[in-house]
Amino acid sequence: MTTTTTKNREIRLAARPDGLPGLDSFQLAETAVPDVGPGQVLIRNLYMSVDPGMLMLIGAYPGLPMPAYEVGAPLYGDAVGEVVLSRDPSVREGATVVHRLGWREYALAEAGEVRQVDPDAYPSPSFHLGFGLVAYAGLTAVAGLRTGETVFVSSAAGATGGMAGQIARLLGAGRVVGSAGSPEKVARLTGVLGFDAAFDHHDAPLAERLREAAPGGVDVYFDNVGGEQLRAALEVMNVHGRVALCGALSRQSAGGSPDAGPVGDPLALIGKRITLRGFRVSDHFDLAPEFGRRLRAWLADGSIVYDETVLDGLDSAPAALLGLIRGAYTGKVVVRLAR
Ligand SMILES: NC(=O)c1ccc[n+]([C@@H]2O[C@H](COP(=O)([O-])OP(=O)(O)OC[C@H]3O[C@@H](n4cnc5c(N)ncnc54)[C@H](OP(=O)(O)O)[C@@H]3O)[C@@H](O)[C@H]2O)c1
Repeated sequence: MTTTTTKNREIRLAARPDGLPGLDSFQLAETAVPDVGPGQVLIRNLYMSVDPGMLMLIGAYPGLPMPAYEVGAPLYGDAVGEVVLSRDPSVREGATVVHRLGWREYALAEAGEVRQVDPDAYPSPSFHLGFGLVAYAGLTAVAGLRTGETVFVSSAAGATGGMAGQIARLLGAGRVVGSAGSPEKVARLTGVLGFDAAFDHHDAPLAERLREAAPGGVDVYFDNVGGEQLRAALEVMNVHGRVALCGALSRQSAGGSPDAGPVGDPLALIGKRITLRGFRVSDHFDLAPEFGRRLRAWLADGSIVYDETVLDGLDSAPAALLGLIRGAYTGKVVVRLAR
């Protein structure tokens, strides 16, 4: 297989913003499709992921788990594509691969940096970019969810939250409660994604809203947000409650200003023997085969809704990232780069 195209396009970081980026923080550049050296593969990207963690790499927040984006260089992020040229025997041309070189139409990768996936595993190759494993690991390995327990999920209409709420129900939670940022999203949680109750996180006081939604208290909180929602959840947690600390959307959407800290009076947490446990999905990649099998079965029998927003064309990626953090979409946000 070869490519007749000689032109590639990529999105670069034009300037590091002070706070949240704007459209002028990005630059669309045209380059040549790179030459492929020994041990390398050329990938035509089909879909790339857009996720809030990218804001931290743009802002170069302190303590990042991965390199910040460099001004003048292309951004990177998860993508799935088709190998159009391979100079390594371990990757065949035509293979579908997941890798970290999104934000460009063609990616040149070392063969060892790509993961070959089954192109027919899911209805769309974009599903390989989903955050279901994050949700599954957080609920099982991190929070130790038990049958009958009440689970609260924040940013529940988002990529991770939508999966977390549905997976909690499928794993036997007794009650699943979610928060989201608009009446339409709240209605979607109970109407489409099967949550038992939901509320709008703009509706203060949050602890009261959560108590109304979870009158028996919360046993497991899947936290995508931090800040006020974490404080409210801790107030409403039951004895031996567990919090899976997954994300920090309240900080990410505020352009990185540090949060005041979630805990409040530690005596209340001691009294309730609360566990707060941060995690990264990369600690739990061993669960991927088990989760993949379960997800395929849930999709096949219709017991899970895969919520995804697909935007078209590399040019749409910067606006997609800005829209994502404003709450413009539901589910996993991906940009389709080719068909
Ligand atoms: N630990 C890990 O390994 C891991 C892996 C993947 C992702 N993450 C993190 O997990 C979090 C969720 O990721 P995701 O990709 O699933 O994102 P997401 O929930 O799809 O993020 C987009 C949503 O964030 C919500 N949001 C924005 N600002 C908010 C605020 N101040 N308060 C509450 N909600 C706000 C908006 O929803 P509303 O309209 O409902 O407000 C928006 O639609 C992120 O912090 C991400 O970095 C962690």
